[in-house]
Amino acid sequence: MIIVGVDDDFNRELANLLNAKFIPLEVRRFPDGEVCPRILISDINDIKGETVIFAHRMKAGSCRPNDYLTEILLTLLNLKEINPQKIILITPYFVYARQDTAFRLGEPKSAKYIAETMEWAGVDVIVTVSTHFHRMRKMSDFFTKALGINVSGFIPLAKYVKDNYKLYKPVVIAPDEEAKIWAEEFARTAGIPDYTALKKERDLETGEIKTYVGELDVKDREVIVVDDIVSTGGTMANAVSEALRRGAKRVISCFVHPVLAPGALEKLMKAGVSEAIATDTLSWEKARVTVTNEISKALSSVL
Ligand code: R5P
Repeated sequence: MIIVGVDDDFNRELANLLNAKFIPLEVRRFPDGEVCPRILISDINDIKGETVIFAHRMKAGSCRPNDYLTEILLTLLNLKEINPQKIILITPYFVYARQDTAFRLGEPKSAKYIAETMEWAGVDVIVTVSTHFHRMRKMSDFFTKALGINVSGFIPLAKYVKDNYKLYKPVVIAPDEEAKIWAEEFARTAGIPDYTALKKERDLETGEIKTYVGELDVKDREVIVVDDIVSTGGTMANAVSEALRRGAKRVISCFVHPVLAPGALEKLMKAGVSEAIATDTLSWEKARVTVTNEISKALSSVL
């Protein structure tokens, strides 16, 4: 079994956990923005007839989902041409998942189309972490030919908090109703009895976010705000400010995917967050929690 991927600790650790041979991927970016991902093989027989796992992560703060997607598609097609026995893609942050329906007339169902394109590019199994499921609720709603596996990034996040923090009267808060299932999963895993969700409205034209709070008992308590993605930081920052405004003692922010558009972390700090804890589903030097164990465990059932 082979793992192809950028030479970093995440991919090396996966290769180690899965007992696979590691083949590095070099990604060149030309001055005009085109990308060229090259699999550093010395002989195509290293891949032909093998089970190949291609693991690829986007860089936090890069705001380049389209480059990332192109690198994935070019590499999948490149692998397909070499004819391995099976191609497994690990894409911990599944880009475009939030556009899982046409919210306005004429918009694309991006998540569905991207899943179909990946299947066309030859993927047999795809592994993602805490994919943003809402209108599409499970991997088989995205993937009809390939086997989709979605592992939870909230579980290792919650275990990390449980093992490293002693919190005073903690409460877990989701910044919107959609995130309530993750707050519940996080609270259950961390052994925190209380969780709740705020209400959020996003203007589809301007992107402006408004957060509404109903009953929220956070006075003198330590709060953990939990979400899947922090992109602009607006959703998380609003929830953090609300908790503090209502008397929370301290607010920690936990999220799976540190997409982190420029200015996002500053926004969280300005809102008063005391710590931002995220996983390594995107490559970020400050990620504190790894999802490699969850991925390798999930994969061992199909290998
Ligand atoms: C949206 O439904 C997601 O779960 C996140 O809350 C959202 O993507 C965060 O985006 P931003 O950081 O730009 O507010």
